[in-house]
Amino acid sequence: MNKIAAISDLKKNFIDQVFELTTEISANWPKIEKVGNGKTICLLFWEPSTRTKLSFEHAAKMLGFNVLDFSPEHSSLKKGESFEDTIKTLLAMKVDGFVIRHPEDKISTKIKELLPANTFYINAGDGNYAHPTQAMLDVFTMKEKFHNLNNLKITILGDVNHSRVIPSQIELLKIYSCLDINYLGPDSLISNKFSPSFSSTSENCLAERDILFILRIQKERFKNTDNLNESDFINEFQVNNNFLTRTGFNGFIMHPGPMNINAEITNEVANSDNSLVLRQVENGLYLRAALLSLIA
Ligand code: CP
Repeated sequence: MNKIAAISDLKKNFIDQVFELTTEISANWPKIEKVGNGKTICLLFWEPSTRTKLSFEHAAKMLGFNVLDFSPEHSSLKKGESFEDTIKTLLAMKVDGFVIRHPEDKISTKIKELLPANTFYINAGDGNYAHPTQAMLDVFTMKEKFHNLNNLKITILGDVNHSRVIPSQIELLKIYSCLDINYLGPDSLISNKFSPSFSSTSENCLAERDILFILRIQKERFKNTDNLNESDFINEFQVNNNFLTRTGFNGFIMHPGPMNINAEITNEVANSDNSLVLRQVENGLYLRAALLSLIA
């Protein structure tokens, strides 16, 4: 197995192995086995990224890979070259593996078929289909805190419909028998397939929850039919100190980033003692290093 489009491509024992190696890398960083052996990895990001792209780049360089940073904006795609021909061209330049982010839903499944058997590939997010490494680093971070996820109670707040993180996260949490997940936010951002969901808050409604996983409003993926009154959203769902008092939430705050401060979350909450946001980012570096070590 050297191609990851979605969590469904992974077996539990492989994910366990990734998590074990992530722990080891975390404990020893920046000492790390140089398993890259001069192989070449190409990062192709059709959409902006800070965390995913730079953590893959940093991890790959620390592992001893050569890293090519392909910029679609400055490539021959602008002269009409196709996606397929771009990949073939890079393969002819002896690229050994790809990390690709793309706005098209499920393009990751087509990319898997396009690539030769010995070329590795990791989906760095496609449309709102999947973001498997984000899910892995998030679940790893949960496991660091709770070890056993069986009894974990997670509330996902905000724009679930446009998230590619959540479908991957739910799939992965299921593998670890974590089934107590509910959703909080306006109906326009949470479709019926995400259940149970709540479209308002009440006193102490989150008092028993362990993790509040907050999502940005992903306007770039809104369709013409989507609409949201942002000031209503902020009044009811912005996670600020008043929200925490009203809902009785006392667990850990998580957010995959990027955060829109003063929209879905305030600075005081994002930087509070209960926030795992920067730990998620740090674990993303270790986890992506572990994953590259195992699949390249
Ligand atoms: N969470 C996430 O994918 O962040 P970036 O867009 O910064 O990579």
